[in-house]
Amino acid sequence: MKLFNFLSKPQDGSVLGLDIGTTSIKMVEIGKKGQTPELVNYGILETKGSVSRTNTALQTSGLKLFEKEAGEFLKALIDRMQPRTRNAIASLPLFSAFTTVLSLPAMGQTDLQKAVAFQARQVIPSPLAEVALDWSKVGEYKDAKGFTYFQVLLISVPNTEIRKYQGICAAAGLNLQSLEVESISLTRMLVGSDPTPTFIVDIGNRSTGIIVATEGSIKFTAQTDFSGSSLTQALASSLNINSLRAEELKKERGVLGTGPNYELSTIMLPFLDAIISEVKRTDFTYHSQFTGAPKIERAILTGGGANLLGIQKYFEAQLGIPVVKAAPLLKFRYPALLEPLVPELNPSLANSLGLTLR
Ligand SMILES: Nc1ncnc2c1ncn2[C@@H]1O[C@H](COP(=O)(O)OP(=O)(O)OP(=O)(O)O)[C@@H](O)[C@H]1O
Ligand SMILES: [Mg+2]
Repeated sequence: MKLFNFLSKPQDGSVLGLDIGTTSIKMVEIGKKGQTPELVNYGILETKGSVSRTNTALQTSGLKLFEKEAGEFLKALIDRMQPRTRNAIASLPLFSAFTTVLSLPAMGQTDLQKAVAFQARQVIPSPLAEVALDWSKVGEYKDAKGFTYFQVLLISVPNTEIRKYQGICAAAGLNLQSLEVESISLTRMLVGSDPTPTFIVDIGNRSTGIIVATEGSIKFTAQTDFSGSSLTQALASSLNINSLRAEELKKERGVLGTGPNYELSTIMLPFLDAIISEVKRTDFTYHSQFTGAPKIERAILTGGGANLLGIQKYFEAQLGIPVVKAAPLLKFRYPALLEPLVPELNPSLANSLGLTLR
């Protein structure tokens, strides 16, 4: 599925994938010589204040402040990375997009186009002139009387949001070539053409995105505020320590749950349970909208939160399906000295890497 094609496509081989999260900016530089794309360089810049002072979160601050800060952070990141290209593809966070599934009687492409535009007007909360719109057919079913219906995934993003990203990139001297909602780049990266019905659970700092993908395309998305920072805050308040120390403890110990780590696990697990409940709820809602859809067979954990020690095993036990951590770098060449860092980089860079595979 292509999104927002009013922006032109990359011209030469090398490109930057840019992921502006709520508390960090991640950028990859990808070279495209030969068959396998190559990770030439990457950078992750965390806003230092984000852990202790929650009001400095990148995405949640006021629009102007956000643009200014994000632009400055991005410039700092570019200064440090010195990428060879300024051509960039950036992602829009899931929470900035409005995503819904429409059911329409089976019809030809031209009529479908008109019908989707008409329906979009009914369901999208803002005037159509103020949003960029994209859609794709994601399924079909027959009702009790034997009539066929198409299911169409509709995504809209406010133009203000798009202009904001254009502004940030322009301020940092980047040539923004296209924008894509992160659920799409994650699905391209982590599922690709694999038909297996899959949950992608993207555990970021401020929010967790849940994507249902089957036959290689997005069918449904959901979101919850339970996320990486919930675990840190729980540790900080239960142990009466500051957020920076809590963040360290979280990364060091995880939810392995034995010996000296037992108490830490019991503090964090209720928040993982909240994420897991949201996955189960998404499963339920998805299957009630897509009657007869196949059972979801696996979950892929991504986002920085997927690096929590023991998370995979815990999710697997609770969800009752195989759970793996994202491994996007399997599809890239990269310098050998990066090898020891790959397990931790994988879930953090999945989104920015996926952008470059368009
Ligand atoms: N080794 C680790 N163990 C546990 N948590 C980790 C680890 N490494 C990173 N995290 C957590 O991952 C989160 C950051 O993830 P990510 O970089 O995906 O977030 P983001 O994209 O900035 O935020 P969002 O997606 O919410 O906008 C933080 O909460 C951080 O504490
Ligand atoms: Mg993120």
